[in-house]
Order: sequence, then C-alpha cells, then structure tokens
Amino acid sequence: MLFPTLFDSLERARWNMHTDIPWEQFDSSCISERQLHGIKMNSILEWSSMPTAEMFLRDNQNDIDFSAFISIWFFEEQKHSLALLEYLRRFAPEFLPTEAELGAVRFTFDPAPALDSLALHFCGEVRLNNWYRCAREYHSEPVIRAIYQLLANDEARHARSYFKYMQRAMKRHGEQAKMSFSKIGVLMTNPRMNRAMHPTNLHVNKSLFPSDTVNSRLPDPGWLTRWLDEEIHFDEKWETKIERGILQNLSALFGEQLDSARALRQFQKSLTVL
Ligand SMILES: [Fe+2]
Ligand SMILES: [Fe+2]
Repeated sequence: MLFPTLFDSLERARWNMHTDIPWEQFDSSCISERQLHGIKMNSILEWSSMPTAEMFLRDNQNDIDFSAFISIWFFEEQKHSLALLEYLRRFAPEFLPTEAELGAVRFTFDPAPALDSLALHFCGEVRLNNWYRCAREYHSEPVIRAIYQLLANDEARHARSYFKYMQRAMKRHGEQAKMSFSKIGVLMTNPRMNRAMHPTNLHVNKSLFPSDTVNSRLPDPGWLTRWLDEEIHFDEKWETKIERGILQNLSALFGEQLDSARALRQFQKSLTVL
C-alpha cells in the first residue's frame, strides 16, 4: 500500500495556515481589483476538488489504497481554496465568493475509466504547479506571493503522489495502463489544443452540456484564459516546462526516451497498432 508512506511524507511537508503565511506583510498598494477578481475565481476553481474527489471515490470502489490517498488530496485542495478565501476575507471581503458560487462547481461527473482520470490529474497537477509558480512571479503583493508558493509546492507533491499510483498501475495493469497513460499524455501535450488544457476545462457530464466544465460554471467563465494570456502571461517558456515535466515522467514510466510531444504521439500510435 502506498497510502501510509504518502500520508507520512505529506504530513511532514504540511504547512500551517496561521504561521506559514506572512499575513502581517500585506501591502494594499501592491494589489489591484482585477487581481482580487482573479483570486476569487481561483478560490472557486480550487473548490472543484469536491466533485473530483467524489468522482475518484466512486470510480475506484475496488481500490482502498488510492481512495485513502484521496482523503489527503481532497483536504489539501480544500485548504488551497480556504487560503485564498482567507486572503479575501482579511483584505478584500467584497470579493469573497458566495456559497452559491462555490456550490456551482459541485456537480456530478460522468463515470470515467480510473486509469484515464489518474493520468489526467497527474498532468493537471504538473500544469497547476507551473501556473502557480508563474502567478507568484506575476504578483508583487507579498502575502499572495507566499500563498502561491505554498500552493505550487503542494501541487508538485500531488503530481508526485499521482505518479506513484501510475507506477503501481504499470505493474498491475501493464499494457492497459500504458495505453491509457500515453493517450492522456498525447492529449495533454498537444500543442494545437487550447493552452488552458486542464481537467477543469474538460466536458464531464453529457446531460449538462455545454455547462459541464468547471470553468464554464465560474461566475466569470472566460477568466482562466484571460488570466493566463493577459495577466500572468503564461507563455511558451512555461508551456515547455509542463511538456518537459510530463514527457520526462512518462519516459521513466514506460522505459522509453520520449523527448518530444511528437515522439510520444508516435509511441502511442505504435501501441494501438499492436
Ligand atoms: Fe490546489
Ligand atoms: Fe493539487
């Protein structure tokens, strides 16, 4: 079981909401209304770990190890939302989302293959780690910078934890895991796709289409793309870091040298031909 070791390492890395965020350093001259709006949207986005945790528990009924890990992941994601909410509560309460706005991102996801969801969320955590590192550079207000640093570190640890379950799946499910992970890897490193390629942008409930992505249920559905393009400037340099992170991990997982998205596509094609 991976859960006891992951519990231990995540417990040791855990930060404290009161003592590890330098709340007293807040500088109101370094934050704008547009930025506060972004923090509001981001707090709602983080709240969407709720339906994701529900999906993971439902789709992994036979996997008590992974399900137990989800308890930590869910706790830490809700804590991310809470840290951003606490920032708004202290310094800009007029930007606090309502319970209804938070509740709008809790909706049922259609059942999905467990291996696909695992790989998707591994890639999603790699992406979030980079988004938050970029957001930290973009902001000049010291408290929100510190929060984004803490969040980025957690997202990197989440990616590593999901990766451990991918390694375990390779031992248990072999070819099936390889097919699923390479398929998702191709999807998440496809340069033709929207740059905001993240689980929160995927359609996850046919009956609610087109309002069945997390981002479409935010009070400002266009926020994420605008935030990435016009505010934090998440450019090619950052995209390359994500692609490299995904490719390096998949290379280690498959024992294949996959040094470009094209190489991964070819590898995936070779699997489907077999
Ligand atoms: Fe998070
Ligand atoms: Fe995360």
